[in-house]
Amino acid sequence: MKLKDKVAVITGAASGIGKATAVLFAKEGAKVVIADVDFNNGKEVENLISKNKGDATFISTDVTDSKQVKRLFERTIKKYGKLDILFNNAGIYLLSTVDKMEEKDWDAVIDVNLKGPFLCSKFAIPLLKKNGGVILNTASTLGLVVEAETPAYCASKAALIHLSKAMAIAYAKDNIRINTICPGPIDTPLLRKSYSSEELEEYKKGTAMNRIGKPEEVARVALFLASDEASYVTGGVYTVDGGEALM
Ligand code: NAI
Repeated sequence: MKLKDKVAVITGAASGIGKATAVLFAKEGAKVVIADVDFNNGKEVENLISKNKGDATFISTDVTDSKQVKRLFERTIKKYGKLDILFNNAGIYLLSTVDKMEEKDWDAVIDVNLKGPFLCSKFAIPLLKKNGGVILNTASTLGLVVEAETPAYCASKAALIHLSKAMAIAYAKDNIRINTICPGPIDTPLLRKSYSSEELEEYKKGTAMNRIGKPEEVARVALFLASDEASYVTGGVYTVDGGEALM
């Protein structure tokens, strides 16, 4: 088992990439905290992991709210006694150009995708400093290359990559490794909500591998980065995108 007895908080773990990662981390021996705003799906992931003899706890958390984030880590410590891994994965996607975008929608994207990882890292770092640990951030290929239709999303993910690199330098001395994963198109509710099946067929052509990825394919990269196998890896940016960023 690659994460035996590690304690991992995964945000956005009620669905998609976060859910696949929670299931995989639990299978690899981690005690997993599912932090999400979605109560029903969060509880479902908790039950799924428990049924498979894993250890998981759902803690209802809005990552944009500092009081809720503080409580998330307090409850994690109360239940499991320590923190080893934080996976900042919760995110939202918005198709809207700048002139059409409402201010509140800009704020929502920046708050979930950028302020969320800031707040979670802020409260996690003092805990990770105790024994060393790992922070992973889910950005996107759209943090590396841009598309015209999603400026707020692209900006939030590019900024998250820089936040991740700055933290990697600041906390290397504390034995905290911090890396970013940049998924390309992955078959999750986020993608399905934004594009029709026909549009997704077109989207595929934007990847060198000519297909949409699966959440489990991202989860396996997250597992590597969270495990001791990646012991000399920090400040890195890992595309999991079928070659989308090359096109
Ligand atoms: P998803 O929509 O399936 O899952 C996202 C989860 O985040 C949901 O469970 C949702 O309830 C949760 N969430 C949203 N706002 C939250 C908040 N304020 N506090 C706590 N939880 C919140 O989406 P998916 O695709 O699994 O996305 C995961 C991450 O991967 C996101 O950061 C997304 O931007 C990123 N990503 C996804 C890609 C894709 O094609 N699916 C491509 C590139 C990046």
